[in-house]
Amino acid sequence: MKHFISLKYFSPKQIYQFLHLTKAIKAKPSLYNSSLKNRHVGLLFEKSSLRTKTAFYLGMLELGGGAIYYTPQEVELGKREKISDVSQTLSRFLDAVVLRTFSHDTILEFVNFASIPVINGLSDLLHPSQVLADLFTMSEVKGEIKKLKVCYVGDGNNVCHSLMYAFSILGGSLYVVNPKKYAPKNKIVAEAKKIRASGAKIRLSSSVDEAVKGADVLYTDVWTSMGKEAESRQRKKIFRSFQINDKMIKLARKDCIVMHCLPAHRGEEITDSVIAGKNSVVFLQAENRLHAAKAILVSLLRGR
Ligand code: CP
Ligand code: NVA
Repeated sequence: MKHFISLKYFSPKQIYQFLHLTKAIKAKPSLYNSSLKNRHVGLLFEKSSLRTKTAFYLGMLELGGGAIYYTPQEVELGKREKISDVSQTLSRFLDAVVLRTFSHDTILEFVNFASIPVINGLSDLLHPSQVLADLFTMSEVKGEIKKLKVCYVGDGNNVCHSLMYAFSILGGSLYVVNPKKYAPKNKIVAEAKKIRASGAKIRLSSSVDEAVKGADVLYTDVWTSMGKEAESRQRKKIFRSFQINDKMIKLARKDCIVMHCLPAHRGEEITDSVIAGKNSVVFLQAENRLHAAKAILVSLLRGR
């Protein structure tokens, strides 16, 4: 395991290993407080972040190592300096890099020139460290992932794509419901179908009622992701009937959990009352980013 770029490169066994390690680290963090002593990770982000930055930065400190955060302005990947030069330079200083980029190709190019592990901390295409933590939250609260009906309501974006890979690999049931114009990318749909493990059910639809009915997990994300702000007005109109609100929750199982990777645009894809309601696990989900980030760091760096 050299990098953490996309869940599609992992086997079910490897994903479960990450989840077991996340559980162990969460249960007894002190057992891991010198696991990455004298190791240093760089956080190179082209976009804003609260959770991902905190999870990897604090995670690294709590594992006994160090972290450096670069603001989007100070490095200007590919502008001030070629991506390949940044990658080769940081490989000489650091033990790993967490990248958050607009284009997924930026991450792939960085990886090509890196001699240290690279972690995808979100690109326009994928958000695998988020989804790993989400799988952990689902199993922590609801039990066996494969037995759950999970329904993602909203934009067919980076989070949705990583969920599709995860459920395809693990053999779970994922219903994705969105306006046709904002369906997941065909390439990801095709790949998710190709890697489909036995029992995996990936259903795409634009009928909310059918997808949400009887769901154990309702998951949503912003209608307007970072970088798409110019489309916000149009998106608000098109997505209007895809809001997770009290009425929609009634269609799901009574004991369903509501998840959101955050940040939330309250009043758009999700209401205040749902976030504050008894089904919501969004802040537990946010906390679990830390434990899962530590599991990723330990898995990639231990023994290197
Ligand atoms: N969920 C998530 O990645 O949050 P940030 O954008 O704040 O890191
Ligand atoms: N889809 C969102 C996720 C933020 C964590 C975005 O890319 O902005």
